[in-house]
Amino acid sequence: MSPREDVAAVKLFPVILDVGAAVAVLETRQRVAALSRLAREAARRSARRMGGGPAVLQKDDNGVPLPANGYFWSITHKPCYVGGVVAPHPVGIDIEEIRPRSPGLFDKVATEEEWALAGGREVLAFFRYWTAKEAVLKAAGVGLTGLSRCRVTAVHDPQHMTVWYDGRPWPVSQRFLQGHVAAVTAPAGAAAWEVDQLPPEAGACSPP
Ligand SMILES: CC(C)(COP(=O)(O)OP(=O)(O)OC[C@H]1O[C@@H](n2cnc3c(N)ncnc32)[C@H](O)[C@@H]1OP(=O)(O)O)[C@@H](O)C(=O)NCCC(=O)NCCS
Repeated sequence: MSPREDVAAVKLFPVILDVGAAVAVLETRQRVAALSRLAREAARRSARRMGGGPAVLQKDDNGVPLPANGYFWSITHKPCYVGGVVAPHPVGIDIEEIRPRSPGLFDKVATEEEWALAGGREVLAFFRYWTAKEAVLKAAGVGLTGLSRCRVTAVHDPQHMTVWYDGRPWPVSQRFLQGHVAAVTAPAGAAAWEVDQLPPEAGACSPP
């Protein structure tokens, strides 16, 4: 069976927003709250593109997004970018900035066998694997506690890979932004990414 045939037919609309300079000036707690709100705005935009979504974006007592109206949702927020996605099946999204990582972190994130699939321990591979696994673990609702049980089993091309978790394969599609990589649990051809700026005057994280 190809990876997750049940999800393969569904087109998803993951939305990434460049949050620009406006949020960067806020004090830490306010900034995180603002990014969290903007990530929910990205999820609402994804729902509009999908033509349906949860009426409310609520989480359970463990902080896991709760499905509603038959739609699941996932968000991610980092200082420069936020992202959100909704789907009629469990879904996960993650964004990370590509930056140097220690050899010890590579050991935590994947095995030698997995790194070999990407051609070695390159920092780009690190963040591809990290975001792919986080997206899958969010879709599974477990977060990083499941990291050691998550395996990359195939790297199909620079934007697609398969991750196994909980006895089944999850297809992952990726998108590269300025110094960042994003991942969503969707097979090749199923993720119609939208990348936009918010607010319009934003740009602190964009190239000069
Ligand atoms: C969930 C988790 C993977 C998020 O990763 P992150 O890179 O820190 O944050 P992101 O911005 O990408 O995602 C945050 C969003 O994930 C969602 N989320 C939180 N826990 C989640 C879970 N178990 N499953 C799915 N989604 C979850 C939330 O919506 C959260 O945003 P919000 O708090 O504004 O609502 C991570 O925080 C985690 O695993 N937490 C569980 C506790 C844990 O294992 N901590 C060890 C840290 S080393």
